[in-house]
Amino acid sequence: MKLSVIQFETLYKNKENNLKKINGYISEINSNILVFPELATSGYFYTDKNELRKIADNYESETIKKIQKLSTELEKIIILGFPELDNDKIYNSAAVLIPNPKLSRVYRKTHLFYKERFVFEEGNTGFFVIDYNGLKLGTMICYDWRFPEAARSLALKGADLIVCPSNLVTGVWQNVMSARALENKVYIAVSNKIGKESDSNQELEFNGESAIYSYNGSVISKASCNSEEVITSTIDPEKTRDKSFNQINNIFLDRRPEYYK
Ligand code: ACM
Repeated sequence: MKLSVIQFETLYKNKENNLKKINGYISEINSNILVFPELATSGYFYTDKNELRKIADNYESETIKKIQKLSTELEKIIILGFPELDNDKIYNSAAVLIPNPKLSRVYRKTHLFYKERFVFEEGNTGFFVIDYNGLKLGTMICYDWRFPEAARSLALKGADLIVCPSNLVTGVWQNVMSARALENKVYIAVSNKIGKESDSNQELEFNGESAIYSYNGSVISKASCNSEEVITSTIDPEKTRDKSFNQINNIFLDRRPEYYK
């Protein structure tokens, strides 16, 4: 099974251009799973809800429907970050689009980072796993990484692969992603953006270095810090399912949840 992570400069307030790029990547990349960054259709640094509302999409919108159609026609799983409008609320969401559209779902970011709190609602979908064609797929978004409970609950629900569309502004996540993969024995795919964005008094720089981690914690593919790149790895979901790492220890069976409260 081929997994690709697309690292690109999502342009602020330029949905047309971003969608053109996204569509191009979807057609060109010959992989089973494509992971795009957080807020890939819109860019990231919104502090005004009215501005964000103009570029947000309902999950049932034509924008998402068109990408679902590509997913079905090309038989590719597509994970795409977008600002999701639901009545008057806006969520920092990822469309998890499966070739069988009945299985597709939206994930709403659980843990909001920094000024996201000014414009987004806290996500209310919780963490879920989709089972399709031999893959159990879980999704979290960016800052969710800082909560080991996110990856752990996805792994306990059976995820083989956790995808993490991101717009990361520090490098500290790199200290822990290997551990998240190793401690849960899952693959992890982080899709980050590159470039800079500003609001009226602050500039954010996005650091790239998108990466795919194997279930033993090793980095199997990694992008640069500043260029648009697609990284691809072959993954074998079955390999994540036996949580033993020697003849005696099993990382799930050895847990002592009664002592974790
Ligand atoms: C982040 O959650 N975009 C850092």
